[in-house]
Amino acid sequence: MLILAFPDYLSQAQRLASRLDVALAEVVVHHFPDGESLIRLPPSLPEHVIFCRSLNQPNDKLIELLLCATTARELGAKRLTLVTPYLGYMRQDIANQPGEAVSQRIVGKLLADLFDDVLTVDPHLHRISSLDQAIPIKNAISLTAANEVGIFLKQQFSHAVLLGPDSESKQWVAAIAESIGFDYAIAEKHRLGDKQVEMVLPAGNYRNKSVIIVDDMASTGRTIAKATGLLQAAGSNDIYAVITHALFCDDAYDHILKAGVKTIWSTDSINHPSSCIKLDALLAAAVKSII
Ligand code: R5P
Repeated sequence: MLILAFPDYLSQAQRLASRLDVALAEVVVHHFPDGESLIRLPPSLPEHVIFCRSLNQPNDKLIELLLCATTARELGAKRLTLVTPYLGYMRQDIANQPGEAVSQRIVGKLLADLFDDVLTVDPHLHRISSLDQAIPIKNAISLTAANEVGIFLKQQFSHAVLLGPDSESKQWVAAIAESIGFDYAIAEKHRLGDKQVEMVLPAGNYRNKSVIIVDDMASTGRTIAKATGLLQAAGSNDIYAVITHALFCDDAYDHILKAGVKTIWSTDSINHPSSCIKLDALLAAAVKSII
């Protein structure tokens, strides 16, 4: 078995390789001036190859996975596993308007055609209940970082209220709250545009309480910023945020801090200075369970 790592995701792949006690080699990636990618794999591959890379900013990375997986098969690899802690393109699961591409299904099919196993963490599955409905292969494995996040929060707080900003977040928030015995509440959110959300806090006493906003991802940061404003208006000025996937597009991180969040923590599914919750033990245990 060999782990193939990409230059932008080397440290996570190294941690996974060392947990699994498996050799690691780097995929050489060259970007031509016109944006095309050239990839080069070690010419001699074992039967089982694991590619490790999150799919944030996914467009180039998907093409590179297509090139890698096809080349690995040509070089004789029999089993290809993709460990992709953040799996992009999962949010568009229906056509909201006639003619819209249902990206979740299309990208899911592409990955199913390329890989024998796909492992990810807290994928954004809204209207489907299991990952194999999006990626139709037997080993489409959806892990959750709830335990890692819960252990981390328990080290920081003896007690706090967890707030999920929308109904979809309930799955993560409830799991974390139950694992560490914290209270939780779920807000109601309506998205009006990429950077515009409306939200209603559930009734409750937030005055002088530490509140931690918990979500699967922050993209523009507007969801967390809106929740922060409502919590401040309700009397809490001790507000934190923890997310699995630190997408933080453009000004998102600063926007959240300016809104009044004291600290934001995230997992290392995506490289970011906030990414202090490591996922290698979770990922390694999942890989071990399928080999
Ligand atoms: C959406 O339902 C997700 O769970 C997140 O709440 C959302 O993607 C966050 O996006 P943003 O940071 O752009 O508000």
